[in-house]
Amino acid sequence: MKSKRGGGRQSAEWFEAGMPHVWLPYSQMKTAKASLPAVRTQGSRIVLADGRELIDGVASWWTACHGYNHPHIRAALERQLALMPHVMFGGLVHEPALTLARRLAALLPGDLDRVFFSESGSVAVEIALKMALQYWRNRGFRGRSRFICFRGGYHGDTAGAMAVSDLEEGMHAAFRDMLPEHFILDLPGTESSIATFEGVLEGYADEIAAIVVEPLAQGAGGMKFHDPAVLTRLRQAADRYEVLLIFDEIFTGFGRTGTLFACEAAGVVPDIVTLSKALTGGTLPLAATVARREIFEAFWSDDPKAALMHGPTYMANALACAAANASLDLFESEPRLEQVAAISTAMSAELEPCRGMPGVKDVRVLGAIGVVELDRIDDIGALRARFVEEGAFIRPFGNVIYLTPAFTIAADELALLTNVIGKVIAS
Ligand SMILES: Cc1ncc(COP(=O)(O)O)c(C=O)c1O
Repeated sequence: MKSKRGGGRQSAEWFEAGMPHVWLPYSQMKTAKASLPAVRTQGSRIVLADGRELIDGVASWWTACHGYNHPHIRAALERQLALMPHVMFGGLVHEPALTLARRLAALLPGDLDRVFFSESGSVAVEIALKMALQYWRNRGFRGRSRFICFRGGYHGDTAGAMAVSDLEEGMHAAFRDMLPEHFILDLPGTESSIATFEGVLEGYADEIAAIVVEPLAQGAGGMKFHDPAVLTRLRQAADRYEVLLIFDEIFTGFGRTGTLFACEAAGVVPDIVTLSKALTGGTLPLAATVARREIFEAFWSDDPKAALMHGPTYMANALACAAANASLDLFESEPRLEQVAAISTAMSAELEPCRGMPGVKDVRVLGAIGVVELDRIDDIGALRARFVEEGAFIRPFGNVIYLTPAFTIAADELALLTNVIGKVIAS
């Protein structure tokens, strides 16, 4: 790919003509800094309309784990596009979806072996919540309609997913009074948080359908990490009080925290797991909600009312499933988890000097997630623009600057990202 860093700043005609008609994510449209027009990607690089080339520190919201435009995924997509891009999943099934379901079931631990496909992470979470609610209803329990979830958690932007996210600190605080009220607790990692957690289960277990958690790393809620022992505790408590356990692995799944799935680090099998983001290696939208056999069996009945009434139009899209199968091939044929370990080591060493800098609250690394937490960020738009000036695409949010690069990122590209973070904080 030709590099033209620092080239002209003229923007494309489509950019000027189209921008007045789009509504951008998580943006105050009146004050948001101009978005960057991207025209091409390759590996860990994003090329802008004016020829500038940025090293990507985000992997497109943690999806592009193999880097952009991997030839193996592209070839699989081209084959599938010629055969059948999409058919509805009602009344029809196809090889890419069934193969993917079989492979996911084989990769996930325990008897997590029934896969319900959808097209986004938020919807996968909605389906998980719905499965949990209906599981109890189908088994004859009434009143189990609440969830235990955690401060710092983020599970998506749809109503149900927002309600199990952190509604105090999180981005959806304004909706707090409009959503069903769940138990939003501190993760049970300290004596007092364990006591509170146990107390809620002791007092309200018969109202609780499930515990919902992002295992090991809470992503959009602040890039906070916790110990695998917390997950073991959740599993034990869920068993003791007979509530379900849902792991939202939409961020952590597919190697991001160092193992293929975060639940492996604790040796814990959740009752339901949600997957998305890196599932297709960052090429097409696809998500999966995977249930253990016992959950599925609660829906297995002669009564039509016991069925799971859900079916997104584009569920199990054949192109997306072909991309996901190709992505799983790459986890088998290329040394992804070794690359994650190498990234982890490099980021730990290269971000460490930030720890002593003024305004830096914490530096932490888990798998291929590197975080520099600041006391505060006053002008996030200006900070993001500074990174772009330095040739890096890094998107701080809240008070954190983070890196979640592609696992295929070259050592010198990663070094550029970590150096830029140090340089910008120090300036
Ligand atoms: C843990 C987790 N759950 C759910 C979601 C929502 O996924 P989507 O944006 O695809 O709806 C996200 C997105 O960042 C996430 O990180």
